[in-house]
Amino acid sequence: MNMTFDDSRYQVIDLMQESRRCVYRAFEHIPYVEAPEDAAQQRLSIFVPEEYYQGKSIGGYSLATAPILLQNSVGGYMPGPEERPGRDFFMQETNTAFYALLHGYVVVSPGVRGRGMKNAAGQNIGVAPAAILDLKAAVRYLKSNKGKVPGDTDRIISNGTSAGGALSSLLGATGNHPDYLPALRRMGAAEADDSIFAASCYCPITNLDHADMAYEWEFAGLDDYHRMQMDPPAPGEDRPRMTPVDAEMSEEQKELSGELKKLFPAYLNSLGLRDEKGLPMRLDADGKGTFREHTATLIMASAQKELDRLASGKPGERTAAGKYEGVRHSARNTAPSPAECPALTVSNGRVTGIDFDAFVRFRTRMKETPAFDSMSLHTAENELFGSADIRFRHFTDFSMGHDKTGAGAADAAQVRLMNPMNYIGDPDAVKAAHFRIRHGAVDRDTSLAVSEMLALSLTGAGFDCDIAHPWGIPHAGDYDLDEMFAWIDRICASSQN
Ligand code: DHB
Repeated sequence: MNMTFDDSRYQVIDLMQESRRCVYRAFEHIPYVEAPEDAAQQRLSIFVPEEYYQGKSIGGYSLATAPILLQNSVGGYMPGPEERPGRDFFMQETNTAFYALLHGYVVVSPGVRGRGMKNAAGQNIGVAPAAILDLKAAVRYLKSNKGKVPGDTDRIISNGTSAGGALSSLLGATGNHPDYLPALRRMGAAEADDSIFAASCYCPITNLDHADMAYEWEFAGLDDYHRMQMDPPAPGEDRPRMTPVDAEMSEEQKELSGELKKLFPAYLNSLGLRDEKGLPMRLDADGKGTFREHTATLIMASAQKELDRLASGKPGERTAAGKYEGVRHSARNTAPSPAECPALTVSNGRVTGIDFDAFVRFRTRMKETPAFDSMSLHTAENELFGSADIRFRHFTDFSMGHDKTGAGAADAAQVRLMNPMNYIGDPDAVKAAHFRIRHGAVDRDTSLAVSEMLALSLTGAGFDCDIAHPWGIPHAGDYDLDEMFAWIDRICASSQN
């Protein structure tokens, strides 16, 4: 198969959204591997502001210099299809690609395999590590066509939310690592560099092999859980159906919760993390210590930012961008002002204290124990770690050790390949120079600790990582595009080619 970019095959699309006009050139459905398992999914689309073809520039960028936003549409570790600038296939709202084109970026939308996909023989083809291999192969396609594809292939910025945010962090942490090579060769990925310039990660559902203990470090003691059950749209509807689930954990689950909570400090302490001042981030057997204080400090900073915004009378970024409704499944779409949050002490417009336990109660628990490697094998992650022939498997020693169903365990190598934490300290992995992590303050899909550990481990290894827990934000992404684009422009300007 010819894997050279063909710039003669495109359409020009003239689109109005949100009363704004965007004219773009669409190069669609380009295969990025020579031996796809699913030829309809393993392809990518490239979208370019049409003005660049009239020699114009936008925000100082041109056809050759525009950053490339690699925007994946993965959610729930399900397949993430290619997505045109316009409406978001998931929430049916104006998507990031549309705004990114208006801002002058080249947008690349890769189709990525995910759980539930099967080949003609009925084998599962979307299990881990399929999705990360596909993203790497897409990057390789772009880099092997450097100078031919629109945009600057040395300025690839990956972005995704939730499972897509996890994949973005993994892509940023594992560039060119030999662990992925044999599979990439089998797929017929281009022989090229697969490192990227920057990774933007919204609420990354990552570090899955330690996410259960992190969850209980945060939520143990809260036995009731509250979530939205998401089902496909009803006939004639275009949005997913949401049904609230409010329930209490079983006695057995409460017991497991306590056991998992006890495992977390040893894991956290084994990472040897330090904050920016060099202070060791640790937890005692009770789960208290500098790491918890660090997390609390970040929450206070996000509350302060929100108070300052409210005092200034400025609309929230998310309101301005019209993206706040773009929340994924969450029980809590709005949060009171920090001044009304019972976990915070606020005086004269300043956040002066936080009661961490009260803050966790304020957030509420979403998932029953274990949150990811479920004893009943029903989660997205149990399916992610299936095999070609087995749909659901365990992927932690803890759940495997407590299993009563006779289920099998994922391969250790498969689990390893999905966790960016394994590669941050590994010199064979070329890391992105810049990371941006946003994990909403009331997002309960995974513990805040998961993002904190990722960020601390990146900064500890010398990489630039900007992390925040925006106030009032549940499990969601791309709600602050003005800030995200400003970050991209800043990091691109600070490291000119
Ligand atoms: C997503 C959310 C989850 O709670 C999870 O366990 C995995 C993925 C998501 O929204 O992508």
